[in-house]
Amino acid sequence: MSKPFPDTFQGNAIPWLLEGEAHDLPITGALPPTLRGTFFRNGPNPQFAPRGHYANWYDGDGMVHAFHIDDGRVRYVNRWVLTERFRAERDAGQALLGTLFEPQSVAPEGESLSRNAANATIVCHGGKVLATWETGLPHEIDPMTLETRGLHDFGGAIPHDMMVHPKIDPVSGEMHLFGRTAPHPAPGNMTYHVVDRSGAVTHTAEVAVPYDSMTHDMFMTENFVILTVFPAVYDEARAQAGGPYVAWEQDRESFLGILPKGGTGEDITWVSFPSCWGSHTMNAYEDGDKLICDVIRYPRAMLFPDPDGSWPTGLEFPALHRWTVDPKAGTVDERRFDDANGEMPIMDVRFRGRPYRHGYSAGWSGAVRGLDAIHHYDWQTGVRRTFVPGDGCLVQEPAFAPAGPDAAEGEGYLLALVYRGAENRSDLVVFDAQAIDQEPIATVTLPHRIVTGLHGAWLPR
Ligand SMILES: [Fe+2]
Repeated sequence: MSKPFPDTFQGNAIPWLLEGEAHDLPITGALPPTLRGTFFRNGPNPQFAPRGHYANWYDGDGMVHAFHIDDGRVRYVNRWVLTERFRAERDAGQALLGTLFEPQSVAPEGESLSRNAANATIVCHGGKVLATWETGLPHEIDPMTLETRGLHDFGGAIPHDMMVHPKIDPVSGEMHLFGRTAPHPAPGNMTYHVVDRSGAVTHTAEVAVPYDSMTHDMFMTENFVILTVFPAVYDEARAQAGGPYVAWEQDRESFLGILPKGGTGEDITWVSFPSCWGSHTMNAYEDGDKLICDVIRYPRAMLFPDPDGSWPTGLEFPALHRWTVDPKAGTVDERRFDDANGEMPIMDVRFRGRPYRHGYSAGWSGAVRGLDAIHHYDWQTGVRRTFVPGDGCLVQEPAFAPAGPDAAEGEGYLLALVYRGAENRSDLVVFDAQAIDQEPIATVTLPHRIVTGLHGAWLPR
């Protein structure tokens, strides 16, 4: 008998403990016959009540959800990722690891376990479907059944770490990514890797970083990759002294490291600018000698304590910003898209790294609770359209699915999960991606709720 979850878990954050399949979900409206593929979602969903202060996004066991869409029908599957920690804790019948912000709560049997929870997002590349994690290797899962195939180290070529959000070049098919050079928690520089479209690592270079930060996302243009360094700082000595392992060090500057694709550590150009947290990137592209970088920006990250361990309150919520970076002048000009707050940005990834018009995010409709709105940003007109499902409803990061392989940028569908609090269950809603403020073209009804998660992907078939 396992322990009950504490009442700090509320509403749609209460873990969902069932795994299974639903073969043909009911649909209101109609899915277009050209919409074929899988919508993946990943997110933290602990199997046991945690030991210590639970940080959710870093600590919960990854549960993956797949909506296989074909011929106007939807088959749903959900499975936990069977990580080392998941298997050990299942055998023990309780949580063994401590949490990121309270590691000392670890059980003796948990001290040698990897913290990797495989809970951040899904990356589809080289014929593989990978569940990523913050500072660790991804786990490969079966694209249809979601069964765990195991840790994926690219044949040993990426031994320690692949960042949560690598970037895939739609023209070359290459995946570009950064990772830490040493296994967590040893401090270290970053390593830049290029993985070809078959999944083979073709280039590796070490990059010296200004300081040891949580590098969660990156930018990529046609010719450059851009490493991000914000003041969410790892400090093992501070942790040994009883302080937080990751803390927000407000006095540090932010940095963008601009590196030609396939370059080495000597080729990087650093541009510094005032402290902020660029949690997630929407896209980036080149405009002459300048780089246009679209990003979700916080004045100060919410997820980390101060170095003394205290948690700030009353922080400003994030919003979509455009940074115009001039590497020669060493400047970053910044403008905010509009007054809306948003997180979890996505775009039509067929245009990754190139000039583009359409972006999307989850967001807030006004009063800040959970994410309760979906935004469509039109960079050409400056117009934002917003879908708000209504009182008591929550949303998650959407995904864009093109209408077909030759469709124009932004021509397609937007898929999003909506949690309906009054019914305590979720729907998958599908919009014309140009008209998310209109009625959805299809609503796929789930019998259960899908816990608010992190990121996902659309894999066309
Ligand atoms: Fe993320």
